Amino acid sequence: MMGQRILLIVGGGIAAYKSCELIRLIRKSGGTVRCVLTEAGQHFVTPMTLAALSEQQVHTSLFDLKDETEMGHIQLSREADLVVVCPATADLMAKMAAGIADDLATTLLIATDKPVLAVPAMNVRMWSHAATVRNVARLRADGVTVVEPDEGPMACGEYGPGRLPEPPAILAAIERHFAERSHAAAVPPTGIRTSALAGRHIVVTAGPTHEPIDPVRYIANRSSGKQGFAIAGALAALGARVTLVAGPVQLATPGGVRRVDVETAREMADAVAHALPADAAVMVAAVADWRTAEAPQKLKKDGSAPAALALVENPDILATVSQSRDRPRLVVGFAAETNDVIDHAVAKRARKGCDWIVANDVSGDVMGGEANRVHIVTASGVESWDELPKDEVARRLAMRIADAL
Ligand code: CTP
Repeated sequence: MMGQRILLIVGGGIAAYKSCELIRLIRKSGGTVRCVLTEAGQHFVTPMTLAALSEQQVHTSLFDLKDETEMGHIQLSREADLVVVCPATADLMAKMAAGIADDLATTLLIATDKPVLAVPAMNVRMWSHAATVRNVARLRADGVTVVEPDEGPMACGEYGPGRLPEPPAILAAIERHFAERSHAAAVPPTGIRTSALAGRHIVVTAGPTHEPIDPVRYIANRSSGKQGFAIAGALAALGARVTLVAGPVQLATPGGVRRVDVETAREMADAVAHALPADAAVMVAAVADWRTAEAPQKLKKDGSAPAALALVENPDILATVSQSRDRPRLVVGFAAETNDVIDHAVAKRARKGCDWIVANDVSGDVMGGEANRVHIVTASGVESWDELPKDEVARRLAMRIADAL
C-alpha cells in the first residue's frame, strides 16, 4: 500500500474501536489515513484517539471545513485514493443508498469521485432486515464494495452475521481493492491476472455428468458447462490455483486452470475429494441425481429393460464437501430451477449445508445460452443481479469470493 491515501469514515457502532487498529495496520503497510468521525461515532471513540493514531487532523463536522480555500469537503473527499467506511452502520448505509447528505460523512460520500469500500457492522437482525438487504444491494449496484460481515457472537449477546471483520481482514480487503484496480488499469479485462486470490486453491465443478445405462446409452442433461468454465477462468485471473473438475463438454480449458475430466457423478465425487483441501469450492456442475446399474451389454426390447433401468441415487457432492472434515472455508453451490427460484435456493442452501447458493432460472434458454440472471443466497439474505453475460457473472462472483476469503 505504498503511499495510498485512505479517507476513513468512522460510523457510530460498538465496533468503532476496531477502526483504531485498522489505522495502525494501514500505516504500518505504507498507507496514510485521514479520519472523519460521525457524531454517533464520537460516542465510541474520540477524535483525539484517531488524530494520535493517524497523525492527522480529524474532521467531525461540515463546519470544521468552513475555510473552503484550505480544505473544503469536495477537496477532502477527493484527495484520497479510497474512501473506507468502517464501521458502516445500518443507518449510514441507508443514507448512502438514498444519497442523503446531512452531515460531513454523508456529504463527503456523495461528493467523492473516488471508490468507496464499506465494512458493515451491526446486530444480526439489522443486517438481515429487508431494508438493509435492499440498501446493500443498491450500494453494490452503485459500485460500492461492501465487505461481508463476520458471523459469530455479538456485543449485544446475539449470534449471527453482522460482526465487523477483524482489522487484518479489512486491511486485506483494502489491499485487494488496490491490486484489482492497478491491474484493471494496466491491462484489458480479458485474460487479466491479479493477485487478489494469490495463494488460494479453489475447486470448481462444471458441466453435466453422463450416467451410462448400457454400452450405448446414458442419462444426461442440458448443462453446457459455460458458466462453470467462465468462473474457473475468472478465479484463475484473480491469481487462484484452480482445479476444474469437468463433466463431458467440448470447451477450451481457461488459461491457468488445471482441468480434470470426468464422466459420471461418482467420478466427479472422487475427483473433488482428491482435489481437496481447498480454500473454496464452487459447485457449478449439473450433476445427475440418479444412475442405473450399468448393463454390460446393450439392453434389448425383450422385457428386461424396465428392471435394468431402476434408478439408484448418486452421491451428493456439494453436501458431502459441505460436511467433510476438509471443508473449504467457503462452499458455493448452484441451483438451477424452473420455478420458485429463490424459495428453492434458500431451502437448498440449508439442506446442503453450503455457504452460498447461486440460483438461476433455467426455464428460458440459460442452459447453453450466453447470459444468466442470478440470485446470490447467503446467510445474510438474497442479492439479485441483473441479467449479465456469463463471463460478467463469473467475474463478479470471483470478486465476491475474493472478498469473502
Ligand atoms: N450437486 C452435487 N451433487 C449432486 C447433485 C447436485 O454436487 N448429486 C450440486 C450441484 O453442483 C449444485 C447444487 O448441488 O451446486 C444443486 O444442484 P441441483 O441439481 O439444483 O440440486 P439437487 O440437489 O439435485 O436438488 P433438486 O431436487 O432441486 O434437483
